[in-house]
Amino acid sequence: MTQILEIRDLKALARRRVPKLFFDYADSGAWTEGTYRANEEDFARIKLRQRVLVDMSDRSLETTMIGQKVSMPVALAPTGLTGMQHADGEMLAAQAAEAFGIPFTLSTMSICSIEDVASATTKPFWFQLYVMREREFVLTLIDRAKAAKCSALVLTLDLQILGQRHKDLRNGLSAPPRLTPKHLWMMATRPGWCMKMLGTNRRTFGNIVGHAKSVSDLSSLQVWTNEQFDPQLSWKDVEWIKERWGGPLILKGILDPEDAKMAAKSGADAIIVSNHGGRQLDGAHSSISMLPRIVDAVGDQIEVHLDGGIRSGQDVLKAVALGAKGTYIGRPFLYGLGALGKEGVRIALDIIRKEMDTTMALCGKRRITDVGLDVIAD
Ligand SMILES: Cc1cc2nc3c(=O)[nH]c(=O)nc-3n(C[C@H](O)[C@H](O)[C@H](O)COP(=O)(O)O)c2cc1C
Repeated sequence: MTQILEIRDLKALARRRVPKLFFDYADSGAWTEGTYRANEEDFARIKLRQRVLVDMSDRSLETTMIGQKVSMPVALAPTGLTGMQHADGEMLAAQAAEAFGIPFTLSTMSICSIEDVASATTKPFWFQLYVMREREFVLTLIDRAKAAKCSALVLTLDLQILGQRHKDLRNGLSAPPRLTPKHLWMMATRPGWCMKMLGTNRRTFGNIVGHAKSVSDLSSLQVWTNEQFDPQLSWKDVEWIKERWGGPLILKGILDPEDAKMAAKSGADAIIVSNHGGRQLDGAHSSISMLPRIVDAVGDQIEVHLDGGIRSGQDVLKAVALGAKGTYIGRPFLYGLGALGKEGVRIALDIIRKEMDTTMALCGKRRITDVGLDVIAD
């Protein structure tokens, strides 16, 4: 097996181990995938200042996100169908994040349920909410997250209708997956994945089936998801969600300074500058290129986080330097999970930690909390 030195190595291994339709589901963006690519490319354009003869001993990446201590400013982003990258994927990723001392965010559209993840962890995780038309169900979801002692609610604002991802359409990926001969072949060519999947009974949307009123089996779930995402979600909804939840609230999917200003007024605790990993509005700016403008607009009023395109610890450091208090990774941890399960997520986090630490030292800083604009070359 090739040595795993960077996130790209985990991606290559995941490609060999995860059935094509699920690997492609992770490695895809909307339409031309231009925004998906820009998220990564714009990080590469940012140059760092090399400093010498400064004390580089006793370094620390520790900081806080929404007041919660984190061993580095990185959280696992909410990703749907994670239990299809690897059997029981959400439970394993949550355990890896817990061991690392960083937050895990469970998606509404996960395979393992809120209760599954709570049973597999000992510390609070975060829950990401999609708002459905069936408000009764949304209330129940919020209450379940509270009962599971989740320590933040991440409300996603940029997916009220679904961006078109060509790979998913070509592969015939549906939610939940249909078992066509093509899919069965894609799975049969990944026997290790199949064996593990046969060993679990978690193969559908754990937060939804058996909980949403009109969903009792797989066929009705498909109809339900197509019909249920609420295209009329508004700032008014943020108010009642905040009230019902009563804990730390993070608004995910802000890419415009005007929206950031609205978010700052909403009473939320943080925003995530995000374009959903380039999966929604193709043609939108990359997250990292919008970060400085958003920090300028609201940085003194609300905590600003960022996701999209982070593939190394250097990228995290750049985001922090430009004003993000925290970041999230989606695909890097999914590739780790698909490649090597829980150990793969640990390896992904370890790669990012080491890269961030070395970069910070070579930029002449000892603490991530001291990293600012002065590490960026003009
Ligand atoms: C396979 C996949 C599934 C995702 N599912 C969700 C989801 O269910 N809810 C959500 O808020 N964001 C979802 N996202 C977006 C991520 O939370 C995050 O914004 C994005 O992955 C960040 O970009 P990165 O993958 O380049 O790190 C998903 C992303 C991917 C790659």
